[in-house]
Amino acid sequence: MADRTVTVTDIATGKSVDLPVLDGTNGPSTIDIGTLYKKLGYFTYDPGFVSTASCESKITFIDGDLGLLRYRGYPIEQLAEHSTFLEVCYLLLNGELPDKQTFETFESRLKMHSLLDEKMRRFYLGFHNNSHPMAMMVATVGAMSAFYHDQIDVHDAESREIAAKRLIAKVPTMAAWVYKYTVGQPFVYPNNKLDYVSNFLYMMFGLPTTDYQPSPAFVRAMDLILILHADHEQNASTSTVRLAGSSGANPYAALSAGISSLWGPAHGGANEAVINMLEDIVQSGKSVNYYIERAKDKDSQFRLMGFGHRVYKNYDPRAKIIRKVCHQLLDELGENNPHQRLLDTAMELERIALEDDYFIQRKLYPNVDFYSGIILRAMGLPLNMFTVIFALARTVGWISHWKEHMSDPQARIGRPRQLYTGADQRDYVRIDERS
Ligand code: CMC
Repeated sequence: MADRTVTVTDIATGKSVDLPVLDGTNGPSTIDIGTLYKKLGYFTYDPGFVSTASCESKITFIDGDLGLLRYRGYPIEQLAEHSTFLEVCYLLLNGELPDKQTFETFESRLKMHSLLDEKMRRFYLGFHNNSHPMAMMVATVGAMSAFYHDQIDVHDAESREIAAKRLIAKVPTMAAWVYKYTVGQPFVYPNNKLDYVSNFLYMMFGLPTTDYQPSPAFVRAMDLILILHADHEQNASTSTVRLAGSSGANPYAALSAGISSLWGPAHGGANEAVINMLEDIVQSGKSVNYYIERAKDKDSQFRLMGFGHRVYKNYDPRAKIIRKVCHQLLDELGENNPHQRLLDTAMELERIALEDDYFIQRKLYPNVDFYSGIILRAMGLPLNMFTVIFALARTVGWISHWKEHMSDPQARIGRPRQLYTGADQRDYVRIDERS
């Protein structure tokens, strides 16, 4: 029971309601408005959920004003420096860092699930070869629900645990197969001798004709990208997964809904949009300043992709970390980098925007996707695979939130209300009598 309340009084009727104030570990206190409608007859209105907490969660904390991001209490900077993506997966799923033996067991369990059912191959074969990889991800992750539907009891903790491991283990194989299909190369099966990230790169870039060895610099950069994108509390795709899952839907289907939500350019599609924008700048022959001016022009729809964030009104802490690695990787690649012009343009844009009053006043800094797009481009990944990498990373976040929702005894189906502004009741008019 909360020991503080906020009283809301409707001056017109004189009726009041005391609403409990809930304090979290960190972050703003939250007013529980659950009884507002019953007591005063009002809904609340908050398009875009700017002031609304949709759930209670123990997974990730963000302070957008201070530029903080913590997974299960651990600052992202420490995890990025000392941990690995797989260890972060364990942490997000279970709430604690594993000891050595627990980690080894976790890793070997995941390896047991890395293969796809052979019949899944046929799903890929049905796609046109220029299908967008995100469309294929939505469809194939959703299709997995058909393979495991009977084996899942979403109300059983053990069953949820297996579904979580299956998803984390199989999504890299699915992502790599999506890529292989679009470039017309044979699917590469997982190699369980490799660690999670090396295995993913092996399935992406390996060929039966060559002995592919992922470069340690690329493995580390990919591991870091996955750590930084692993979770981000109640963003659009995570909220989608929670909402879809709240009806008791199969988790593969709920994740497929999350992947759809992630695809948009205002969310996970931004890393792809960043490179499209940079390519446009390079090909147009116009100056970076011209694009900066367009982004500032209120009559233009153009925005600088990879700049700004709904929550971070200070530097995105993930961007700080990845910026360093991005610059290091580009220095290492030096002249071997076929995308040097693009990357030079990105660095010029970053420099000019960071000094421009419009961006400074609105606190529009480069976000994580500005740099992850550049790194993925430098690694040789095709543009349309960028958001797939984000989906691969975010799978653990989505499934951790799904588990948290499903294990909450108070959890109910999500059912927002609305402010209806359509036509009032009116009578049907037959077609020949309409003017
Ligand atoms: N370029 C130019 N102006 C911008 C930009 C931008 N990228 N982003 C915001 N603004 C301006 C906007 O026009 C508005 O100006 P004014 O106050 O004069 O009307 C002001 O900044 C506030 O913008 P907003 O639209 O109210 O901010 P929001 O919190 O609703 O939007 C955002 C956040 C990320 C959708 C937006 O900044 C944007 O579209 N950025 C580009 C797309 C992008 O990089 N998205 C990836 C987000 S990070 C990945 C993730 O977490 O999914």
